[in-house]
Amino acid sequence: MQKSRPILAWETLLDLDADTPGARSSLRDRVERALRRAIDEGRLEPGSALPPSRALAETLGVSRWVVTEAYGQLVAEGVLDARTGSATRVSLGPGTALPRPPAPGPSPSSDAAPPIRYDLRPGIPDLRATPRSRWAAALRNALASLPDHDLAAAHPRGYAPARDAVAAYLSRSRRADPDAARVTITHGATDGMDLLTRELHRRGHRTILVEDPSWPRLRAVAESNGLRPVPVPVDEDGVDTDVLAALSAQTGARAALVTPAHQFPFGAALSPGRREQVIRWARAHRALIIEDDYDAEFRYDRRPIPALQRLAPDHVALIGSLSKSVSPALGLGWMLLPTTISPPISASPPSLVDQAALAHFLTRGDFERHLRTARSRFRHRRARLLDAIRRDLPGLDVTGIAAGMHLVLALPTGTRAAALTSGGAELGLGLTALQRYVTATPRRESLVLGYGNLDDALIEEAVARLALLIRNAAE
Ligand SMILES: Cc1ncc(COP(=O)(O)O)c(C=O)c1O
Repeated sequence: MQKSRPILAWETLLDLDADTPGARSSLRDRVERALRRAIDEGRLEPGSALPPSRALAETLGVSRWVVTEAYGQLVAEGVLDARTGSATRVSLGPGTALPRPPAPGPSPSSDAAPPIRYDLRPGIPDLRATPRSRWAAALRNALASLPDHDLAAAHPRGYAPARDAVAAYLSRSRRADPDAARVTITHGATDGMDLLTRELHRRGHRTILVEDPSWPRLRAVAESNGLRPVPVPVDEDGVDTDVLAALSAQTGARAALVTPAHQFPFGAALSPGRREQVIRWARAHRALIIEDDYDAEFRYDRRPIPALQRLAPDHVALIGSLSKSVSPALGLGWMLLPTTISPPISASPPSLVDQAALAHFLTRGDFERHLRTARSRFRHRRARLLDAIRRDLPGLDVTGIAAGMHLVLALPTGTRAAALTSGGAELGLGLTALQRYVTATPRRESLVLGYGNLDDALIEEAVARLALLIRNAAE
């Protein structure tokens, strides 16, 4: 009696016939998928012990090899945990996390700024929702599956499977015109910009058109590589392409750095007319558009806007990064370049293991799964933040809410954003003045409020504190 219960249970639990039609169907794959399904659907809980491979093989009526192979793959990915002398157990899976790191406490150094409790800084994803387990699984898989002969080989533009995976992702998700041969794996957008502007300088470029306002680090990198940034104003339709063309004629600039999907920091999408106009400019002058596709995945009310790159693959270099969509700690990104440009080979490319993990993360669909969850979380957070702002700060203009992880809050006349940022630090608020991103065009005093890393439990409290700060500043 006692023996028949587990046998029946395992047979039912691991339904080898539940595969979707058309899926690969070797027995080994079916056992692996059945285990995955049982874990994903919570029927096998974290920590539960699996039968020895011989016993499960007998129960399922398959050879032992089939089960050890399936276990081996899942152990390599970190989904199962196998320790010598003890049973193979479920270790990781959706909803299960690696041991949590300690909550952020005060910094050990006494002269550090007070900790930020209400994180309203732009450009930071939800650090609490870093997909640690999935990335750990990707790393384990990379280590387990990288062939020995690849370990010491040169990968000048990046590891081929990672470049293929990025090309496929950009085609599927950003509707870019992909060609794996044109993808370079980088440490992120800044690294891509560094490599690209070094090449532009080598080709004789000495200026670059840059949106004003814009993300300062990319400007700074261009400048450090000998390209003087020429600021181009932006409005509610994105960068002003008439002014861009005029400034190009005036300065001879033949490269432009733009954020067409989501202008940073105002949040506008480049209008269809301007998309065409900037491409016309690039074609007429054999110029290069650098498309900083920094948080295009987070669009809430409509489908994401396709990459500009697909309209003119010979004139657009797309730079992307996992820094804002997954975690800045990964230090991974990519560039998709026109065939005419080959950037210098990086002296310190991302580690091969990280690149192989990136390939796994993308091809398994973990990146898109992560994005779906993050998008839904940010959509709710944005709605609550907006409600709180309307309630506690009525009458203040909010812009740039259609996409991304931040919005722009215009301040009451006479209130200086810089004064709020220092006062806010004392209240535990991480605030950023719009002015930080502006180079030339005067703008209304505003704050750029990020909500990527704002704790959901603290949204209302954060806005109440901000409202207090703004009221006090006005008195
Ligand atoms: C608009 C924009 N572009 C580029 C970057 C830089 O990305 P990375 O960290 O990959 O260098 C950021 C970072 O926050 C950003 O906000």
